Amino acid sequence: MALRNLELVLIIFETLSLYFCFCNALFTPTDNYLIDCGSSSNATVGGRTFLADDSLSSTLTTPQTILASASANSVASFDDAILYRTARIFTGPSSYSFPIQKHGRHFIRLYFFPFTYQSYSLSAAKFTVSTQDAVLLSDFQPPSNPAPVFKEFSANITRDNLILSFVPSGNLAFINALEVVSVPDNLILNVAQTISPVGQYLGLSNQALETAYRVNMGGPKVTPDNDTLSRTWVNDRSFLLDQNLTKSVVYSGKINYVSGGATPETAPPVVYQTATELAASNTTGAVFNMTWQFDVEGSSSYLVRYHFCDIVSTALNVLYFNVYLDSWSAANNLDLSTLLNNNLAAPYFMDVVLTAGSAATNKLLIGIGPSTLPNVLPDGILNGLEIMKFVNSSGSAAVVEPAASSKNLGVILGSVFGALAVVILAAVIFMMLRRRKLEKQQSKSWMPFSINGLTSLSTGSRTSNGTTLTSGQNGELGYRFSFVVLQEATNNFDENWVIGVGGFGKVYKGVLRDDTKVAVKRGNPKSQQGLNEFRTEIELLSRLRHRHLVSLIGFCDERNEMILVYEYMEKGTLKSHLYGSDLPPLTWKQRLEICIGSARGLHYLHTGSAKAIIHRDVKSANILLDENLMAKVADFGLSKTGPELDQTHVSTAVKGSFGYLDPEYFRRQQLTEKSDVYSFGVVLLEVLCARPVIDPTLPREMVNLAEWGVKWQKRGELHQIVDRRIEDTIKPDSLRKFGETVEKCLADYGVERPSMGDVLWNLEYVLQLQEAEFEDSEVNSMNRIVELSSQVQNVEAMQDSVITVRQEGPPNENVNDLSDVSMSRVFSQLIKAEGR
Ligand SMILES: *[C@@H]1O[C@H](CO)[C@@H](O)[C@H](O)[C@H]1NC(C)=O
Ligand SMILES: *[C@@H]1O[C@H](CO)[C@@H](O)[C@H](O)[C@H]1NC(C)=O
Repeated sequence: MALRNLELVLIIFETLSLYFCFCNALFTPTDNYLIDCGSSSNATVGGRTFLADDSLSSTLTTPQTILASASANSVASFDDAILYRTARIFTGPSSYSFPIQKHGRHFIRLYFFPFTYQSYSLSAAKFTVSTQDAVLLSDFQPPSNPAPVFKEFSANITRDNLILSFVPSGNLAFINALEVVSVPDNLILNVAQTISPVGQYLGLSNQALETAYRVNMGGPKVTPDNDTLSRTWVNDRSFLLDQNLTKSVVYSGKINYVSGGATPETAPPVVYQTATELAASNTTGAVFNMTWQFDVEGSSSYLVRYHFCDIVSTALNVLYFNVYLDSWSAANNLDLSTLLNNNLAAPYFMDVVLTAGSAATNKLLIGIGPSTLPNVLPDGILNGLEIMKFVNSSGSAAVVEPAASSKNLGVILGSVFGALAVVILAAVIFMMLRRRKLEKQQSKSWMPFSINGLTSLSTGSRTSNGTTLTSGQNGELGYRFSFVVLQEATNNFDENWVIGVGGFGKVYKGVLRDDTKVAVKRGNPKSQQGLNEFRTEIELLSRLRHRHLVSLIGFCDERNEMILVYEYMEKGTLKSHLYGSDLPPLTWKQRLEICIGSARGLHYLHTGSAKAIIHRDVKSANILLDENLMAKVADFGLSKTGPELDQTHVSTAVKGSFGYLDPEYFRRQQLTEKSDVYSFGVVLLEVLCARPVIDPTLPREMVNLAEWGVKWQKRGELHQIVDRRIEDTIKPDSLRKFGETVEKCLADYGVERPSMGDVLWNLEYVLQLQEAEFEDSEVNSMNRIVELSSQVQNVEAMQDSVITVRQEGPPNENVNDLSDVSMSRVFSQLIKAEGR
């Protein structure tokens, strides 16, 4: 009887947690301020309620504001007409203040409609709108023929309070409605490609952007109520230079959002279900591009986002086309089906930054043209396009501080939200307590997995002993932990047990009931990108076992959590032993053995299964060391399976870490095992020189370690840049062979680089050459180090001071950020937590 009850309760909870999952799947903005300015009643537009702000007039810093309203019929014909019927007029500098609950990117949307109210003609207004960090509109003047103006900006808000200031240039400013709304963190990535010159743009995350165009190719206008983030997408016809060259296509099937591609927040299904396609197929022999033209300001930089989804092909690998931005190529022979793990109808986006001044005119051309590959039909598609202008950050933004005494809007809204939050929180805590109790009764601390989306993984047999981990038994490689067990192992995710933080989330040290130490990586459940990487990592790590690859012990996906449990690597990252910490320097032999170990791990990845696996993020922060300094390669979140037999590469959006990126991969977005070989070559240099791969504080020619190292190697003087602490212990032959290996790994073209197997062989030879001289003289070489250090104390002192500066100086924080773009950074502090 008791059992039956338990089952019943369990079913209820499963249903509830499903319900929660569903809620989580739709993005709900944490900050969500919608205001119908100047209005005395709330306005509902497309299911969203804009609050009246007349009751909140104390929001504003100055009393010189006027509530105004237009006659209903003057605005009736516009979208969202109700928002334009009232306005708040400012006769002096004023501001709104919004408490920000969650730092990160927010949409700031402004609605203007210049009507005449009493003696105020709003079309005569001229004013500047700014946040504390950016000027959104400078000397803005509404159009003289009254028409609504809608402006959308997105900015990363890292303050606890957003102050939106309105400063009249003459004597009037106004606003009809406004929004300040949270946006998913991964909507704008930090990196994009640039094409003139070809390279990489870093730092988009902090860039404020203004939406210039948002277009749904071949499809209807999408209104805010039909968009996942309340955006508006317009049809593309009016931007096409020659409509006769194109046709609109509509797909009625389901859009297949897959890992590595776009998410429903990037753009909703309705955008991907339609496209404009090259009408080439009915014109024999003729080849041409389809081109859209947009007005831009040549003096501004732009982020251009192309949205693709192959809704026209009926088979894989038949649609190939070229993508242009003005006369530059943005992608060549793009094959969407391979980009997304052989899926059709899978959305994908591509970001390109056009830097200020590179466009020759004030027109921006977006082109799609046929591929020049043999035996490919001339065809091409585009599903959507966004053009976002960079908003200059401002030294000059006038910030109108809200009067401290006045009760401001934020406080009022805040307290409404606050009360709601308390209710929700109470409900959640209640549920958690109930559930926790339940799970105690249930007494299963972990179970083998066989669930949602992970069914391809092996299922194990249930065990009642939650404290013993018998991973690897019968090839069952991963286990599903219950959340409660991991909560217990990490002292309820104690902040003091955090050993690293990264893009994916936090990594905690954990101790299981049988005293096994583990590293528990807990993903941020809101991050869709994270979910993809989470799956990739579980799938790959469960298939792969090697003594030089970090093993996955299990995972937890209960309650929408994304938690990975790894073996604990006592000695932390290779990087932390090279620089940026006060750990004792590794000897040359230790360094070589670590390189050899990691080369073995990578060689296994490339050759150990039927399809090669490309790591994509090889770097010293992803090589972890166990208590015996044995190297294991970690972090497979970005990994991709390699080319099929009949192809020579995988083309893909550029991912990976700055400073380690294969220039060829970058140029052609074609990924092969040789991209890993390049990155590994950079790691070899790092090991030799013990400095960051990118160090912007150094003179220009030294900033990029790969370039600098190759330069010295080509001159035959690599010894000049060796880590001073070990330079005298390295045998010249060993260094020579090592240098040659590095140079080959860093060759410009993939075909010229050795395979990982060759690299491994070469490194073993380097070690032999080293051992040959110092045979049975480990002690000897130790003595030499000691001798050295006593002789050249001055040099050491100098080095110390350099190291100190690096540890303290903020520029070096940046250095670390640059080389640790991916989540693997999480392990880099293992040693700091443990080693002291
Ligand atoms: C938008 O949603 C409404 C219902 O909310 C629906 O009637 C309309 O067809 C949708 N439009 C598009 C373009 O999907
Ligand atoms: C398409 O446009 C690009 C860039 O302007 C140009 O180089 C290419 O020749 C065009 N292709 C065709 C077939 O017109």
